[in-house]
Amino acid sequence: MRVLVTGGAGYIGSTVARRLVDVGHEVIVLDNLSQGHRAAVPEPATFVEADLRARDRVARLLADHRPAAIMHFASHTLVGESMEAPLRYLDDNVRCGLNLMRAAVETGVERFILSSTANLFGLPERIPIDEDVTVDPGSPYGESKFILERMLHWLDERHGLRFAALRYFNAAGAAGPDQGEDHDPETHLIPLVLEVALGQRDQIVIFGDDYDTPDGTCVRDYVHVLDLAQAHILALDALGEGSRVYNLGNGDGYSVREVIETARRVTGHPIPAEVGDPRPGDPATLIAASDKIHRELGWTPQHGALEDIIGSAWEWHRRHPHGYAAA
Ligand code: UFG
Repeated sequence: MRVLVTGGAGYIGSTVARRLVDVGHEVIVLDNLSQGHRAAVPEPATFVEADLRARDRVARLLADHRPAAIMHFASHTLVGESMEAPLRYLDDNVRCGLNLMRAAVETGVERFILSSTANLFGLPERIPIDEDVTVDPGSPYGESKFILERMLHWLDERHGLRFAALRYFNAAGAAGPDQGEDHDPETHLIPLVLEVALGQRDQIVIFGDDYDTPDGTCVRDYVHVLDLAQAHILALDALGEGSRVYNLGNGDGYSVREVIETARRVTGHPIPAEVGDPRPGDPATLIAASDKIHRELGWTPQHGALEDIIGSAWEWHRRHPHGYAAA
């Protein structure tokens, strides 16, 4: 199948693009390189540098390439940043998705996979979080993804655009020793902790220790990026039978302190930590119930152990302390 991957030079997008290539799909990566890296795009994929905010360009690109499916990763993705700059998230994320969906409908694309998020659940009424938990986004970022999910719902209803909304919990780990997470600036817990282990930072600041959790720090469900990639492959095939929404996580929650402690064991470095202020928009606990995708598509995470997730990320960071810049 010819698959257009937006954000395919980014952390999750490039991992999925590589997996698509490996299983025999033809991949076209579209990325504006604002966060992504040209070096992260898998070799046989066609690369197009383009910005999804340019509606006419997006329409032309789809008309030229005529993909059978779209996977839409390109997005602003930071919960905390979206609390500071809500309009940037509500404008760019929604507009880019809309431009892409419009072009998809106009050119007859039949399958659309959206990167959605656990931040759809700001104050979940139960944990673990299954797909029937009430959506109540925790930030403008989560809201922007929910708007895209709802747009897809209507485009399926009225135009037959089949979609899968894959709500990632905390994507983490590296796909291989030469393919990993590289954001500028970095804001995610695991890479920051590993930068402390590498001596690139003095310490990690824990964003609040007064949450209603066992040790007072936020609890998250860290899911390996390779397991997320596998979910995309399964969802792409399953779209032949209709649209679907899945929550993707391991079903295990780890606190910020537990992540730091595990990283100390994995790396053998002391990793100094200090408690700072909470970060606006951070829910206390997010843990997925992924029974639905397991039941329907047989998705079973293969890299669920936190040691493995952090271990793979550590390998990447050690080998590439400056990310893709020196690749
Ligand atoms: N944290 C710290 N110190 C730091 C960085 C993070 O204590 O320096 C804490 C955060 O407060 C949070 C946890 O570590 O409790 C994880 O934070 P990340 O920034 O790594 O990830 P988020 O949970 O904020 O967000 C990530 C993705 C989102 C996605 C979300 C789903 O960035 O796109 O997971 O849960 F929506």
